[in-house]
Amino acid sequence: GRTAAVIPAAGRGVRLGPGAPKALRALGGTPMLVHAVRAMAQSRAVTLVVVVAPPDDTAVAEVQQLLADSDAIAEVLVVPGGETRQESVRAGLDALPADVDVVLVHDAARPLVPVDTVDAVAAAVRAGAPAVVPAMPVTDTVKEVGPGGEPGAPEPVLGTVDRSRLRAVQTPQGFDRDALVAAHEKTALEGDGATDDAGMVERQGHQVVLVPGHEEAFKVTRPLDLVLAEAVLARRRA
Ligand code: C5P
Repeated sequence: GRTAAVIPAAGRGVRLGPGAPKALRALGGTPMLVHAVRAMAQSRAVTLVVVVAPPDDTAVAEVQQLLADSDAIAEVLVVPGGETRQESVRAGLDALPADVDVVLVHDAARPLVPVDTVDAVAAAVRAGAPAVVPAMPVTDTVKEVGPGGEPGAPEPVLGTVDRSRLRAVQTPQGFDRDALVAAHEKTALEGDGATDDAGMVERQGHQVVLVPGHEEAFKVTRPLDLVLAEAVLARRRA
């Protein structure tokens, strides 16, 4: 079977500030989404990339145009997304041809993931793991807080989590296709949200495993992340 990448890129990116949908923001003069598609297509494992665009006709056409103009790499399909990330990923999964048996789900918001990380995730799924996630140690100490009062008011601490046992997860997350599709179907029925795909697969009782992530696979969420991303790109081009 083939390995495909699904890239949810339908988010508005409100935390980044006003402007175009996050995936279409430029980074070194090129939309983040184009960087993300290239990062997936550079992996020799990946032969198809499904991009999930914002759910309106103009956005789908715009994204198609954008990717057609940008030195085509692997086969690329563009489909409309949904209200939530979960629905968007599901729309991408629905578009996969029958011969795909391994799926990598990668956030458009992680445009600079190195190809070695992509390859390592794909290889671990091929080696038999149903779900593989790149992860990094947590460098900040993390505290759990109680139910808050007024926004901005001091928050009561319930406890401190043992940082050595925590990992911050990244994408691409790699899956056996059937395991991921089944987990999405179950989650959609139960109607409870999940912030990552591996979380859904975990709840179905599959063993999720972690492989080393990479600091350059960080998620562009806030304005400062754009500054860092520009700096990483400039260093690569130097
Ligand atoms: O909001 P967050 O940064 O967690 O979004 C992660 C990824 O999910 C982004 O690439 C975003 O474009 C995508 N997304 C989506 N559909 C939504 C919401 C988010 O494809 N409705």
